[in-house]
Amino acid sequence: MQNKVLISKQDIDKRVSEIAEEINRDYEGKNPILVGVLKGSFIFLADLVRKLSIPHQIDFLSLASYDNDSSSGVVRVNSDLTMNIEKRHVLIVEDIIDTGVTTTYILDNLGTRNPASLEFVVLLDKKECRKKEVPIKYSGFDIPDQFVVGYGLDYNQQYRNLPYVARL
Ligand code: IMP
Ligand code: MG
Repeated sequence: MQNKVLISKQDIDKRVSEIAEEINRDYEGKNPILVGVLKGSFIFLADLVRKLSIPHQIDFLSLASYDNDSSSGVVRVNSDLTMNIEKRHVLIVEDIIDTGVTTTYILDNLGTRNPASLEFVVLLDKKECRKKEVPIKYSGFDIPDQFVVGYGLDYNQQYRNLPYVARL
């Protein structure tokens, strides 16, 4: 693949540090559960939590709404949380928000379990693709409507290992 770098490793690192600082401040004394939405968030989550200084716990949710590079519009649950989130502060960690369908699904589904709070932190936001409005508490970068890979994001399960975000 030709490298068409959209966001460099250095820029990602700086932005992740800034977001971690905000979370350290906002969630102090709340022992939040950070929920990584698999698979795309695994690198972002790993980098983010290593910059957190507050106590927190980690869980995962595995969902899929995409087949290769086109949105199917259908969300599938591959595996659920292992933890009880009732009365807990939950911070969902996502790689990218595109149509908002996945995020809306998570809000509706986890919302019924009575968490103390339910917020989203996303690395990338394709604002212009939104079909459903979703509240995002922390967002790394706004990007245009282009398919991107790297830093956890895939095309056909490839390219997740790239240390930067690139256009495909
Ligand atoms: P949404 O439900 O349309 O917001 O889609 C969210 C999910 O689609 C993300 O969690 C990604 O897994 C996937 N996705 C959306 N855009 C891209 C992209 O540009 N590259 C890789 N995956 C993407
Ligand atoms: Mg994906």
